[in-house]
Amino acid sequence: MLLIQILAILPFFAAAQDSAPEGLIAASTAQCPPVHLIVARASGERPGEGIISSLSNAIKQAVPGSTSEALNYPAKMPYSGSIPVGVTNLKAAIARYTQQCPSGKLVLLGYSQGGAVITDTLCGGGGKEVGPATPGLTAEEGRLIKAVVSMGDPRFVPGMSYDKGTNKNKGGVAERNRAAAPCPVWASRMVSYCDANDSRCASGSSLEVHKTYTERYNNQAKAFVLEKLQDARPLGGS
Ligand SMILES: *[C@@H]1O[C@H](CO)[C@@H](O)[C@H](O)[C@H]1NC(C)=O
Repeated sequence: MLLIQILAILPFFAAAQDSAPEGLIAASTAQCPPVHLIVARASGERPGEGIISSLSNAIKQAVPGSTSEALNYPAKMPYSGSIPVGVTNLKAAIARYTQQCPSGKLVLLGYSQGGAVITDTLCGGGGKEVGPATPGLTAEEGRLIKAVVSMGDPRFVPGMSYDKGTNKNKGGVAERNRAAAPCPVWASRMVSYCDANDSRCASGSSLEVHKTYTERYNNQAKAFVLEKLQDARPLGGS
């Protein structure tokens, strides 16, 4: 009886095998999308894009053919065991897409610790509780990166040209060192949202403020990304 069932199923497998090459060709074309998003979730979120997936989805809807991937990293506390892994993996993910799709465009989105992974990767990071210092990504290494959005970044430094939101004077709980903070290579392509009293990016006491950036700023952040995707000016322009 079992044998008969197996034999009955076999032709379907054979048919599936026959059509596989075509399927694989379609899949490899799809692996080189014109715009690709790399998304880094917040501390404690399950693997995936996390809360900032709402922004990722909105951008993908607006940009035909665009795709996204969730950055593979622990997203755990303490930062020293997690952010450096995220930085290493993000550099690898950027290099992979850049090699595979040399005329594509990259967008980086990060929430809370995920934002710190992104800003540490670009601006140079580490130090103190975040682990060993690392150099920032060079303009050449990141040449496909067109737009970067960070929300509730614990590495937030007030007064930077790319800062957005209502927190004007408080550093985050793991504030980036002031020498690296201006991030001159990437500043023109980056926004970092931080509102007053946020428990992480503004060293305040409201977790509610910290968890609700997508509700307040997704429309603005999406408009920024779409504008930057159209912007053909080279890096270093303002
Ligand atoms: C900050 O948030 C806490 C917790 O929600 C609240 O009790 C406090 O009043 C807030 N402070 C300011 C200045 O808004």
